[in-house]
Amino acid sequence: MIRFSHVTKLYDNSSEALSDISLFIDKGEFIFVTGASGAGKTTLLKHIYMEELPTIGQVFVCGYESKKLEPRRRRRNKLPLLRRKLGIVFQDFRLLGDRDVFENVAFAMRVTGAKERAVKRKVFEVLALTGLSHKCAYLPNQLSGGEQQRVCIARAVVNDPWVVLADEPTGNLDLGVSLDIFSLLRKINSWGTTVIMATHDQYIIERYHYRRLVLERGRIISGADSTVRPKLWR
Ligand SMILES: Nc1ncnc2c1ncn2[C@@H]1O[C@H](COP(=O)(O)OP(=O)(O)O)[C@@H](O)[C@H]1O
Ligand SMILES: [Mg+2]
Repeated sequence: MIRFSHVTKLYDNSSEALSDISLFIDKGEFIFVTGASGAGKTTLLKHIYMEELPTIGQVFVCGYESKKLEPRRRRRNKLPLLRRKLGIVFQDFRLLGDRDVFENVAFAMRVTGAKERAVKRKVFEVLALTGLSHKCAYLPNQLSGGEQQRVCIARAVVNDPWVVLADEPTGNLDLGVSLDIFSLLRKINSWGTTVIMATHDQYIIERYHYRRLVLERGRIISGADSTVRPKLWR
C-alpha cells in the first residue's frame, strides 16, 4: 500500500535528508518511525502525503506515484484525491483558531463536497469516538493540549482514511495525556486503518512492540522490511 523505492531527498543544496530509502508498509500496520531530531522522520511522512517529492527514487501510496505528481507532469490536481485517503495529525495541532471544535472537523469533510446531513452525522460520530461530544462548541484555545490533539485526530479520521500519519502527536503532552492519545490511535488501527506514528517517546516505543522504522541521519538503520516485525505482545 505504501512503497519507497530508493528514495533520496535533498533540500536545496544541503545534505541528504533521506538517503536511499526503500521500504514497504502493508495495509493495517501500526508503525513507529523513530530517530533523533533531524533524522528525517517528518521528511519521510511528507513524502507519504506528497508534500515533498523525492529528488531521486519513487514513492507509491494508495495507487498514486510520486513521479506522476511532479509539477512538470501537471498532475498535481490528483493530490487532493490522495490526501483524502490520508489523515494527518501534527504535533502543533494546526486547528482553525476562530472556529469551534465541530467546525474544525466539519471543514475537513466539507472540502470533499460531502452533503451537510452526512457531515453532521459523521462529525458527531468522530467526536464521540474521540470523547469530545460535550465540547463541540468550544474554540481550540478553550481546550487543553490533549483535547486539541483529539480534535486533530477526529479531523484526521472524518473522511475514513486508509492511512493516518501522526507526526510526534504526543510531543507536547505529558505522559498520561500522551497515553490517551496513543490509545486512540491504536483503536483507530484496530479497525483496519494503517497508522504511521513518528515519535521519539521512548516510554511508548518500549512498551508496545509494533514495528519500528529507525532513522539515523536520513538512513533506515532497521525496520525497513515488514517481515522483521516483532510479534505483538499478548
Ligand atoms: N524545508 C526544509 N528545508 C531545508 N532543510 C530541511 C527542511 N526540512 C527539513 N530539513 C532538514 O532535513 C533533515 C531532516 O529533518 P526532519 O525530517 O524535519 O527530521 P525529524 O522530523 O526527524 O526531526 C534535517 O537536517 C533538517 O534540517
Ligand atoms: Mg519532525
